[in-house]
Amino acid sequence: MSEPIVLGIESTCDETAAAIVRGRTLVSNVVASSMDEHARYGGVIPEIASRAHAEAFVPVVSKALADADMSLADIDAIAVSAGPGLAGCLAVGVSGAKALAWASGKPIYGINHVIGHIAVTQLQFGAFPPDTLALIVSGGHTSLLHVKDVARHVDVVGTTLDDAAGECFDKIARLLGFPYPGGPHIDRHGQLGDPHAIKVPQGLTKGKAGKEHPYDFSFSGVKTAVARWVEAERAAGHEIPVDDVCASLADSVASVLANKAIRGCKEYGSETLIVGGGFSANSQLRAKLLEVGEANGVEVRIPQLKLCTDNGAMVATLGVNLVEAGVRPSPMDFSIDSAMPMDVISV
Ligand code: KG4
Ligand code: ZN
Repeated sequence: MSEPIVLGIESTCDETAAAIVRGRTLVSNVVASSMDEHARYGGVIPEIASRAHAEAFVPVVSKALADADMSLADIDAIAVSAGPGLAGCLAVGVSGAKALAWASGKPIYGINHVIGHIAVTQLQFGAFPPDTLALIVSGGHTSLLHVKDVARHVDVVGTTLDDAAGECFDKIARLLGFPYPGGPHIDRHGQLGDPHAIKVPQGLTKGKAGKEHPYDFSFSGVKTAVARWVEAERAAGHEIPVDDVCASLADSVASVLANKAIRGCKEYGSETLIVGGGFSANSQLRAKLLEVGEANGVEVRIPQLKLCTDNGAMVATLGVNLVEAGVRPSPMDFSIDSAMPMDVISV
């Protein structure tokens, strides 16, 4: 089997998605989102998201197959996100995928959604180098990984000790009055402001904490500092310079992420840095990573915007890696794992 064809299915949070990947080629890609239904609550409501997955599952998978001009008989394997994510949401995707696998007799892989976020870069940049560093930045995760083999061996080099970068942005966005998810609003306003207007701390970069945690992250201090500053300005009756607040926050977070990731590459002798996760859509982070990467001779591979946020292509691409590596498919009674550890690639 030279170029495996894999159907990837994603339902960890508020996107129901399916895609077909052949080798490193994206053949079809369909995403339905229940985001609008959650916006007025200020965050994803699991029950609403699960119901939306149950509604969208068959239409989304059917469209992915139809767009590819394929039926289940044409694919070599099914891959589905088995975690981490919201339990009720994962259950819908995994149950649906198992039903398809059972009916068609195709092998199924329950995969780690987070690893999918970095696997998807292969559609643009080709296969992973055998030994590389990867930065995952999503709503729930901020970690630096050592990827020895994307199908078989991933180690955690560093991770956030408190909030994820996306979570930190979403919380400040809420304070500034932006709807959920707030990350893209901070991004947009940040492009208009002065990144040095407000002093925002850079967690775990200096002194003893910086030495002890060279590759770990902390964003709760950033969040508290910005929140206190905004509250004090409001109490003093001043108007909040929203663009400057967003620019300063974005600059601090992007600098810490880029500097630590590139430093990790040098330490591990990696000439590439693979980046993935919803937060990798952030323009300040993208610019900073490319700048610091170029200055240090590291090739930074960031997905195109539509493949940064949750999608089925990331799941299918990791599925292709598993098929190519000859990894055994998941047993039919595999479970979901809403807190799946980062070093588990498939179940
Ligand atoms: O990976 P993802 O789609 O979902 C998880 O698996 O968590 O990431 C969603 C996160 C949210 O926190 C959202 O605010 C953030 O990604 N995000 C952004 C941008 N686009 C999405 N954060 C900053 N700037 C953006 N342009
Ligand atoms: Zn995600």
